[in-house]
Amino acid sequence: MQIIRSVQKMQAWAGEVRIQKQSVGFVPTMGALHEGHLSLIREAHKKADKIVVSIFVNPTQFGPHEDFKNYPRTFEKDQKLLIQEKVDVLFYPDAHSMYEEGFQTNIVLTELSKPLCGELRPGHFEGVATVVLKLFNIVKPHFAFFGKKDFQQFLIIEKMVEDLNLDIHVVPCALIRDEDGLALSSRNKRLSEEERKRALVIPRALKMCQEFYQKGIKNVAQLQSKVLEFVDKEGDLNIQYFEIRDAKTLESIEEIQKPTVCAIAAYVGNVRLIDNLLLGEKNDSV
Ligand code: PAJ
Repeated sequence: MQIIRSVQKMQAWAGEVRIQKQSVGFVPTMGALHEGHLSLIREAHKKADKIVVSIFVNPTQFGPHEDFKNYPRTFEKDQKLLIQEKVDVLFYPDAHSMYEEGFQTNIVLTELSKPLCGELRPGHFEGVATVVLKLFNIVKPHFAFFGKKDFQQFLIIEKMVEDLNLDIHVVPCALIRDEDGLALSSRNKRLSEEERKRALVIPRALKMCQEFYQKGIKNVAQLQSKVLEFVDKEGDLNIQYFEIRDAKTLESIEEIQKPTVCAIAAYVGNVRLIDNLLLGEKNDSV
């Protein structure tokens, strides 16, 4: 596996691969890799000839009081995992080469970025979209792989690619959970044993929502109050939102008729976790 740190070298490598008529599959990450990330790489191998993974903890998507400094960084371990997964290139730029002095261009997002995490983390998705567009221009992928763990992020990137006519196929990948149901996340590393146990209320709440839905409750207000009642009783979490929304537009709905996403964000101690479940045509499971 090659490790490339310079933007120009990465672009040159990608240009060369394209001249050789090989396809590039790209998995952007912020490192602290786990099975969720690795599942994206395995999907990439099914579609593309060459695989590039980036590790870049992007400062512009963290708010001033968020965990940029404490975000887990496990480069040595990540490197080993990527070699095992037969990745061709690890793109590992430093913040200075991604944001040179005087950087002043940002993607502006509208509807999809307004609710849920967008409302609570102002500027977050603009930071994500801008860095992903930059990474796309550097890695020049044919396919880019995003996890449905970050469902709103996936929708925003898919829309950006469509709206800006990027010649890239965005591939959504399944949300991967631990055996106990907790969605894998780099931030889980920051949970104490006791906090991790408390965090399990999150997937349980989603599962409960799915069960009520399968029993025939389609009314969103009813589902929401039943689930929140459970969370209040069982949980010791600080819920930021528990929302049931249209899975394409993220608009509010009253009754579940079309594919729908139940999305949850909560603080367990000072670790912010998100999770979601799709209801409707294609059922997910917890
Ligand atoms: P990061 O949180 O490292 O996630 C990188 C990719 O892995 C994302 O597409 C995310 O959805 C996916 N992922 C994380 N946990 C997952 C899980 N349990 N199951 C399936 N996929 C999972 O998301 C980011 O980084 C950044 O915002 C980034 C896109 C790299 C831009 O900086």
